[in-house]
Amino acid sequence: MKNIYKNSLQNLNKAKKVLKKNNIIAVPTETVYGLAGNAYSSSAIRKIYKIKKRPSKNPLIIHYYNLKKLKKDAIIDNKFLKLYKKFSPGPLTYVVKKKKNSKISILANANLKTIAIRFPKNPIVRSLLKSLEFPLAIPSANLSSGVSPINIYDVVEEFGNRIKFILDGGTTKIGLESTVINLYGKIQILRPGSINKNEIKKVLGKKVSILRKIKKISSPGLLKRHYSPGIPIKLNCKKPDYKAAFIVFGKRFKRGKHIFNLSHKGNLNEAGRKLYITLRKIKNLGYKKINVVRIPNSKIGIAINDRLRKAAY
Ligand code: TXA
Ligand code: MG
Repeated sequence: MKNIYKNSLQNLNKAKKVLKKNNIIAVPTETVYGLAGNAYSSSAIRKIYKIKKRPSKNPLIIHYYNLKKLKKDAIIDNKFLKLYKKFSPGPLTYVVKKKKNSKISILANANLKTIAIRFPKNPIVRSLLKSLEFPLAIPSANLSSGVSPINIYDVVEEFGNRIKFILDGGTTKIGLESTVINLYGKIQILRPGSINKNEIKKVLGKKVSILRKIKKISSPGLLKRHYSPGIPIKLNCKKPDYKAAFIVFGKRFKRGKHIFNLSHKGNLNEAGRKLYITLRKIKNLGYKKINVVRIPNSKIGIAINDRLRKAAY
């Protein structure tokens, strides 16, 4: 495929050129693949929303190389710094106050007072961020409300050749989107991820809640239906319905035709890595419904259950 670019110095330089022209590219991160564009350019941001068919009220995460580059755009405090030291670069996104004179396009944060920021760990995206003179807005590289991509084939499945430049970084390490934590006002996890509530609580020494119900559009990305493979999903099933694909977890489940085990070993991290690939596979095999067993609701299991609940909505 001619829109796929292997990871090489030459291709990284090409990618930077595309970004400097305010065009968008697909990049790997350690969580999922994203669509990257110049966060300071409204023209680039418009392209992202358009190709994803994303509602303009759903803000994007702005990705930075380090603190130094962030300082022009956001107001940060001690809570942020504590977490930053422990978890960044890595799969944690912080919602913080945007600076009044920040150059971030107001389209990128849906004209809110806040911006969501992240310092990704993947070396490919880091090498882009390091030398560019602007941060990158990078939402997951899927059509709005769909399943996030974890390799280049998923990105192609979502957009065909409408994305002209896809940087190949293999399969992503984590396979689920970053944890999003609100630090402006009430400290609250807006989207669970691989970095969990207890780890965050330990660092902050403060109570941290998880947002359960979405009342208004202040966090519109937490739309009720999301991560959907486009077929009905039923959760907490003990036995599968007739002809349903059955997503299971752990070694008590035997292998079988309609059985898709997220982790035979019962390892939640493995299940996190396999969730989206499994949903895509089931859809592509032509199943009309999905049943899922109960997945343990601890550690990254909380994020897995969050995605499944929204996919099932
Ligand atoms: O792991 C990730 O975070 C991936 C990779 C590519 O970095 N990105 C990602 O972006 O998942 P996206 O756009 O698919 O999800 C961003 C989430 C949405 O739920 C959005 O509503 C929320 O972050 N968000 C962005 N800005 C916000 C803000 N100012 N306040 C509250 N929520 C915000
Ligand atoms: Mg997304």
